[in-house]
Amino acid sequence: MSKISEKEAGEKIKQLTVDLNHHNYLYYVKAQPVISDYEFDVMLQELIALEKQFPNLLTTESPSQRVGGFISKEFVTVTHSYPMMSLGNTYSEEELRDFDERVRKVIGSDFEYVCELKFDGVAIGLTYQNGKLLRAVTRGDGVRGDDVTTNVRTIRSIPLSLMGNNFPDKFEIRGEIILDKKTFERINAERADIGETPFANPRNSAAGTLKLQDSSEVARRKLDCFLYALYGDFDFSTHYDGLKMAADWGFKISEHYQLCKSIEDVLTFIESWRKKRDLLPFDIDGIVIKVNNFRQQEELGFTAKSPKWAIAYKYKAESASTILNSVVYQVGRTGTITPVANLKPVLLAGTTVKRASLHNADQIQKLDLHMHDTVFVEKGGEIIPKITGVDFSMRQAGAKPVSYITHCPECGTELIRLEGEANHYCPNEEGCPPQIKGRLVHFTSRKAMNIDGLGVETIDQLVEAELLKNVADIYHLKSEKLLQLERMGEKTVSNLFEAIEKSKQVPFERVLFAIGIRFVGDTTAKKLARHFGSYQKISQATLEELIQTPEIGDKIATSIFDFVRELENIKMVEQLQSAGLQFKLDKAAMQEAGSKLKGLSFVITGVFQKFERDKLKETIEINGGKVSGSLSSKTSYLLAGSDCGPAKLEKAEKLKINIISEDDFLKMLQ
Ligand code: IVH
Repeated sequence: MSKISEKEAGEKIKQLTVDLNHHNYLYYVKAQPVISDYEFDVMLQELIALEKQFPNLLTTESPSQRVGGFISKEFVTVTHSYPMMSLGNTYSEEELRDFDERVRKVIGSDFEYVCELKFDGVAIGLTYQNGKLLRAVTRGDGVRGDDVTTNVRTIRSIPLSLMGNNFPDKFEIRGEIILDKKTFERINAERADIGETPFANPRNSAAGTLKLQDSSEVARRKLDCFLYALYGDFDFSTHYDGLKMAADWGFKISEHYQLCKSIEDVLTFIESWRKKRDLLPFDIDGIVIKVNNFRQQEELGFTAKSPKWAIAYKYKAESASTILNSVVYQVGRTGTITPVANLKPVLLAGTTVKRASLHNADQIQKLDLHMHDTVFVEKGGEIIPKITGVDFSMRQAGAKPVSYITHCPECGTELIRLEGEANHYCPNEEGCPPQIKGRLVHFTSRKAMNIDGLGVETIDQLVEAELLKNVADIYHLKSEKLLQLERMGEKTVSNLFEAIEKSKQVPFERVLFAIGIRFVGDTTAKKLARHFGSYQKISQATLEELIQTPEIGDKIATSIFDFVRELENIKMVEQLQSAGLQFKLDKAAMQEAGSKLKGLSFVITGVFQKFERDKLKETIEINGGKVSGSLSSKTSYLLAGSDCGPAKLEKAEKLKINIISEDDFLKMLQ
């Protein structure tokens, strides 16, 4: 790194921050980027490097903070400055006209409405102080919510500092955190891949994501946020002007809002979105109608639960009735069974529906589903339609209840259902064809071993030809055998061998992901690899040691613990090891993982919010630092939580030892 003075670095950081914020805004709020992702990354890397060199110049508003990295053990509960109310809602035109009548009675006929989309997500209140994001709080019970600021900072469409300067010193803006449909599908595909139950809809997925403990995982999930309500002292006097102003400050305001002069205009707006909403990249569940003028809003006031100046019109989920032809059971890579209903094709929300998800055995029982029942299917927030009920009046005499299978439809093995789990699964990992193929597909996939030429079809072909039974067989394929197969020419085979050879250099963390431990996704694999350094260490860890690993919960720890002890897995790992795959971190990664705090010694005092003390100590040691019990001239940092004694602080000051907070410490680790 070239030498640069602190002053120069400060200026450069300032400039990079302005530029990155601007490009971030163009990309995530306006959807009109003017530079490439690569150019953005180069600038961001430069900023990160400078902040590493001069840690005291790092601020919480820095664009580098968007990637997360904070671990929140528990979210702190805070009281809302303004109670977070809900909205009265209706599904009918008549009730909407009644609402209009009520409004007229109080404020007369000289007023306007603003119509907006009703985003189907998770409500959030963002407080800004001096133009900087201070706090983000969930609805909770409306009076008190959870402080989720660290996670919200990773949402790139939420400004960390505002544009312009005509905003109040302190104000709150509220909106909805959402996940777009595409991202939702990606997350669910990833969850299914590691044997996690998929989220039912984007809203649940957004809610689950917002409560994750690891903010870097939140950053990866790519949440988005639309804002729609301002609270504070402002210069403007209408909601409409407020939305315009908020957009100027850099907030993401949906462009689909409209001033309406009458309830007829409102109804036209509602009708225009009834069909169009399917084309939006995210879910909405209705339209919100608000009286525009703040003074008139005040005149109208509130009920105990909601404002009298606003109402939500909700679209009914479209539903249709059809006949259940059969129930089939799919077997996933990790053996999870998913029941799916085959239906007589029916038109629903513009598409022909032939299948519907049945989720699990409980769902089938709850519906009291019988063969050939007439069922109601609905497309709500869910991408896959679901069966919401049965038309019992149409049930044929003697119809048989749908009884959940007891044995695997693919290999005949008796199914297992673990306590507390919703799904059944087939335990025959080694002999069940979809599990064998699924594991191979997962192993060769891009994020895992990235073996080009071993896609789904080729894997099918090689499994059918009995050349592949498990992932270790990939490294013992013989070209004579391959050349005898259809579509396998000299060139194809030699390319395949080249790709297989190349995969032996794939780093350990990806090998760990590739071997397919239930619930271990790519991020978890990376964390495990960095924490333990080698497969051997992971396999020797006690259950307690696994649970003690930062961010590994009981469920994942148990799954790892069982996996490494299973005979078949021990054999597979041995074979892969002797084939030359990487089962420990390479030197560079090892150094990177363990050297962030090298040469530094810490004294810990007080109570911490995000870490327990033992975890703090462990984290310091894993990263190459030392922890000692008392302050001396050799101490590099006093890591001080709340409630720490004044004596220690005084001594640290006397010895000129840097006193750092929990957040400062987390920054050092990034
Ligand atoms: S205004 C006093 N505007 O829907 C309430 N809410 O069912 C102010 N929502 O609590 C809320 N889109 O979480 C408002 N354009 C929008 C909205 C919206 C979605 C949510 C919000 C609200 C809930 C009511």
